[in-house]
Amino acid sequence: MQRIAVLASGRGSNLQAIIDAISAGDLAAGIVGVFSDKPAAAALQRVAPELRWSADARAYPSREDFDADLADAVAACRPDWVVCAGYLRILGDAFVERFRDRLLNIHPSLLPKYPGLRTHARAIADGEREHGASVHFVIPELDAGNVIAQAVVPVLAGDDVDSLSARVLAVEHPLLVAVLRLAVSGRLAEQGTTISVDGHPLFTALRLDSAGVLHAHHVPGASPSVPV
Ligand code: GRF
Repeated sequence: MQRIAVLASGRGSNLQAIIDAISAGDLAAGIVGVFSDKPAAAALQRVAPELRWSADARAYPSREDFDADLADAVAACRPDWVVCAGYLRILGDAFVERFRDRLLNIHPSLLPKYPGLRTHARAIADGEREHGASVHFVIPELDAGNVIAQAVVPVLAGDDVDSLSARVLAVEHPLLVAVLRLAVSGRLAEQGTTISVDGHPLFTALRLDSAGVLHAHHVPGASPSVPV
């Protein structure tokens, strides 16, 4: 059984999607810990007390001190995969290096567009026609790691941040579960700067279709999109 640790700062709906997929038999994994920089985070309440770890990051003298405690706690639960699911604090280089190649993040934009915060507001302000979410490997540079898969939604006339973020969140959940399914089945790997799926290098992010299936991206004139 593959072991998943989840880092979350807020409400934890992505964590809940993982929990639900495991309960439904759609994801062959177990959650071995939920970690938060916010002791009041609702995400923590979604798992049993013995799986919760939190500390108030503001009570630490430095980012490095907090990250060191967090990293030790995460390592103690021996995760195969560490998933940032609404974890709103930047992870320092030491943490990232310790869990690199098994550290994933879900980000609410079509990276490389809109790294950082306020992604929905920026997409609306720019008049984007499409927006979405990305799951990527984490590297020290913010939201800049290799993108594994994306889900795309339209931006509709009259959208505000609430309506657009709700549409994106609805695809984040199946996107994250689909990527984790690849990860826990041993089909996904990162070697150096290259992602591979089933041993084949992935040059373009996978796309989630409306049935929740990931496809290798269709390139016009090239081979058709294939489910993975
Ligand atoms: C999601 O939009 C995620 O992409 C972003 O923060 C939000 C967290 O939502 N990083 P939740 O806590 O999983 O409900």
